[in-house]
Amino acid sequence: MKRKVAVVGLGIGRAHIDEGYSKLPAQWEVAAICDVDPARLAEVGDAFAVACRTASFAEVLGMADIDVVDICTPPSLHREQLLAAMASGKHVVCEKPFVTSLAEMDAIEAAAAAARGTVMPIFQYRWGDGFRRAVRVVRAGLAGKPYNATVETAWRRDKDYYDIAWHGTWAIERGGCLLGHAIHIHDMLQELMGDAASAYANVATRVNAIETEDCAAATLRMASGAVVALSATLGSASEISRMRLHFENVTFESCTEPYAPGNEPWQILPRNAATRAAIDALLADHTPYPIRFEGQFRAYGEALDAGQGPPVVLRDARRSLELITALYGSVAAGAPQTLPLASSHRGYAEWRP
Ligand SMILES: NC(=O)c1ccc[n+]([C@@H]2O[C@H](COP(=O)([O-])OP(=O)(O)OC[C@H]3O[C@@H](n4cnc5c(N)ncnc54)[C@H](O)[C@@H]3O)[C@@H](O)[C@H]2O)c1
Repeated sequence: MKRKVAVVGLGIGRAHIDEGYSKLPAQWEVAAICDVDPARLAEVGDAFAVACRTASFAEVLGMADIDVVDICTPPSLHREQLLAAMASGKHVVCEKPFVTSLAEMDAIEAAAAAARGTVMPIFQYRWGDGFRRAVRVVRAGLAGKPYNATVETAWRRDKDYYDIAWHGTWAIERGGCLLGHAIHIHDMLQELMGDAASAYANVATRVNAIETEDCAAATLRMASGAVVALSATLGSASEISRMRLHFENVTFESCTEPYAPGNEPWQILPRNAATRAAIDALLADHTPYPIRFEGQFRAYGEALDAGQGPPVVLRDARRSLELITALYGSVAAGAPQTLPLASSHRGYAEWRP
C-alpha cells in the first residue's frame, strides 16, 4: 500500500526524502513538507516536486490525507511535537535523540499506548547487510557467550557544523558526541550484545569551543557480564566508525564507513569449523536489503502493510536514552551508574549537568 508522509524539518529530513522515501515510490509519497525556514522549504519542495509546503506543524496535523508525520526538528522540540502528532491519530516517525529525558520517554510511552497510530524512532544505521548478518548469527544462538567489545565513533566536526546555532548547546542539542553522534553505534552494540547493566564515562571538550562534550571514553558492563570499551570523538582527522565484538564462538568486525558501519564487508570469524558450517548454513539464504533510511522506511512500510508494529520500537529509543542518562550520570557522580535506572535516579528528569 502507498502511504502519504509529511516531513517536518528539512535538514536531515531532506535526507529522509532523498535517501529514503523518494527511492520507494511504490510505498511512499512525500505529500507535504514543513519547515520554519522558507529557503529550505523552497529548495526541498522544488528538488522533490512537493507542492504542499507549510511552516505550520499544526497545519500538517490537520491534513486529512497525511498518514505519517516524520519529525526531523531539533531535539528540544521532539517531545511536544510527538505528543501533538500522536494525538492527531497519525502514524509518527521521529529522529534521534527521540526525546531528551527518561521522564519525557515515560510520557511518550503512556501517550503511545493510547494512540491510534504507530510510533517509530529512527535508527537507520541498523540497515546494512553486514550488521543484519551479524544480528542473525547472534539471534540464532550461534555466537555464544558475549565476552568483550570495542566500539568507536571517530568523526570530525569543524566550525561550519557549529555555525548551526543549536549544535553544541545543552539547551537544544542536549548533549555532545555521546548523545548526538555515537548514539547509533551504541544502539547497534546493544542490539548485538544486549542491554548495558553499568556505565562509566570520561568526557572532555577539546576539539571545538562548545558547551557539550566532543571527546568521550567509557566502559560498560553488559547484563550478560561482557565488558565493552566505547570511544567517541568529533576530532578525528579522517572519519571512521568501527566495532569489534568477541563472543565465545565468533568474533565480528564491522566495516569502517563512518555513516554506515552496518554495511558490508563485515568479518564474521568463527572460532572453529563447526561454527563456520552452522553460520554458513544459517546465512545461505541471506538476501541484501536497502541500507540506512531506505532500509528503515521500506521495512516500516512492509510492517504497516502486514499489520505489525514498526521495525524500531519505543523500547529501542528508551534503551538508548537510558544509556545516555547513565553515561552523563556517571560523569556527574564520578562513579559508574547501574542500569536500569529508576525514576528516582538524579538524571531521570534531566541528564544535563
Ligand atoms: N539519524 C541521523 O543520522 C541524524 C543525522 C543528523 C541529525 N539527526 C537528528 O535530526 C534532528 C534534526 O537535525 P538536523 O541536523 O536536521 O538539524 P537542522 O537544524 O539542520 O534542521 C532542522 C530543521 O528544523 C526546522 N525547524 C525548527 N523548528 C521547527 C518547527 N517548529 N517546525 C518546523 N520546522 C522546524 C529548522 O528550520 C531546520 O530546517 C535532530 O534531532 C538531530 O539529532 C539525525
